[in-house]
Amino acid sequence: MSEAHLLPRLFPTPEEVPEAWRFGEPQVQKEYLVDGRFEQWGGPLAKVLSPICFATAQGDQPVELGSTPRLSADAAMQALDAAVRAYDKGRGAWPMMRVAERIRHVEGFLQRMREQRGAVVKLLMWEIGKNLKDSEKEFDRTCDYIVDTINALKALDRRSSRFELEQDTLGQIRRVPLGVALCMGPYNYPLNETFTTLIPALIMGNTVVFKPAKFGVLLIRPLLTAFRDSFPPGVINVIYGSGRETVSALMASGKVDIFAFIGTHKAASELKKLHPKPHRLRSALGLDAKNPGIVLADADLENAVNECITGTLSFNGQRCTALKILFVHQSIADAFLARFNERLAGLAPGMPWEPGVSLTPLPEPGKVDYLSGLVTDALAQGAQVVNPGGGTVRASFFYPAVLYPVAAGMRVYDEEQFGPLVPVVPFSDIEQVIEYVLDANYGQQLSLFGKDPLLLGRLVDTFANQVGRINLNAQCQRGPDQYPFNGRKDSAEGTLSVHDALRSFSIRTLVATRFNEANKALVSEIIQARSSGFLSTDYIF
Ligand code: G3H
Repeated sequence: MSEAHLLPRLFPTPEEVPEAWRFGEPQVQKEYLVDGRFEQWGGPLAKVLSPICFATAQGDQPVELGSTPRLSADAAMQALDAAVRAYDKGRGAWPMMRVAERIRHVEGFLQRMREQRGAVVKLLMWEIGKNLKDSEKEFDRTCDYIVDTINALKALDRRSSRFELEQDTLGQIRRVPLGVALCMGPYNYPLNETFTTLIPALIMGNTVVFKPAKFGVLLIRPLLTAFRDSFPPGVINVIYGSGRETVSALMASGKVDIFAFIGTHKAASELKKLHPKPHRLRSALGLDAKNPGIVLADADLENAVNECITGTLSFNGQRCTALKILFVHQSIADAFLARFNERLAGLAPGMPWEPGVSLTPLPEPGKVDYLSGLVTDALAQGAQVVNPGGGTVRASFFYPAVLYPVAAGMRVYDEEQFGPLVPVVPFSDIEQVIEYVLDANYGQQLSLFGKDPLLLGRLVDTFANQVGRINLNAQCQRGPDQYPFNGRKDSAEGTLSVHDALRSFSIRTLVATRFNEANKALVSEIIQARSSGFLSTDYIF
């Protein structure tokens, strides 16, 4: 996997970084947010290194971006205790607050968040290597998600503001919070995916401990003051450090009521097992996936290639929804590969801020070695790298490798590579592909490319009981955020979408009474006196 000459000018010297995108001095973060205050951490710090290197006379050197607190289990527990106090067994100011008022707090936060767009986007590029366009998209999509969540909650609250009458029983049903939520996001969408659980958890009246992802940590810092100022003390607490040390202690305490986690199913299972009363724990989990793209013999080749290029390689394949294995019908495999490789050759490697760049360095230490290991294993078992320069490595950069023909028994056939590796499996009998999906441990999504309505109809029915979303002639993806996002088997627990997340982070409570004159009068008086926030016909516009 040589041919490093393909990447001669990949990493810049410090002077070559355009003024607007220079990082400046390393940011030493010692503060963390607990109980509405910034605590200063006096203990050890974790170094934050960029996936981006500077080219120096001594070789490529990763840029040091700063450091963040490596909190102890005790410090993390103080944050959890602050959230427990703020919830106050459901009697805290936040869980008791009327919905319209909670919405105002979140709107205030959003306004302050928007002011930090430039800072967060720059950190997204430097911390995880996401290109400028996608970093901006991540920020804007997150703001849109917050707006949509507010609107969805208003609609939900409007529906809950009326009374129901069933079998002589008068009732009002509202969604109320569950307690204390622990929210943890992934490094590939350190802002967006974390906020798609954090914001619904907050707005439904839960209190939160939020631990940023393992990479993309400093980028939360510009938002800390907005968090502190926009919510009552203890409602949102932000902790840092090793998950093993901090999160294990939080879960073992039994004080976490909702576990919102995006990561591996292995880590999720281990953490869930630590909770002493698992029946009290609600989980919202986004886990591993190995989404197949299935290219049938009659597929529109141009469309299939375009969708598979973005499906496999946008953000270097580091999306949980990425296409991680392609099954291509034998009769069109050569034509597909030729066109795929042509399109791949047009993807520009470079630094995230460079216009038009889509291939960038990878943030996980050891990732290029892991990917090279998958390639070596596949080569040893008869596959080839069929694109020029595929698998070329320079420091943290791995040039995408298209592996063909891939077959059962190779590691990349089953393992989720989560990176720029494109395994292509030729098939002649669709039953082989069906079996792969049926036997797979994961069941998030898949993509079908073809034209035959009879075959596609049959495959849709076969796969509908296997995965959470079937994409016809399109790559796999999470959005639009109004649609359900979930998975079967080891790929997820629960469903997220703007609509579903509000439900995942709340529970329905019913106030019911026999429908007679005395009770009607009593309920009317409670409403007129405005003595209850729950029993109320207030309507949020
Ligand atoms: O990493 C998983 C993300 O939820 C994928 O979202 O399909 O919009 O890239 P996306």
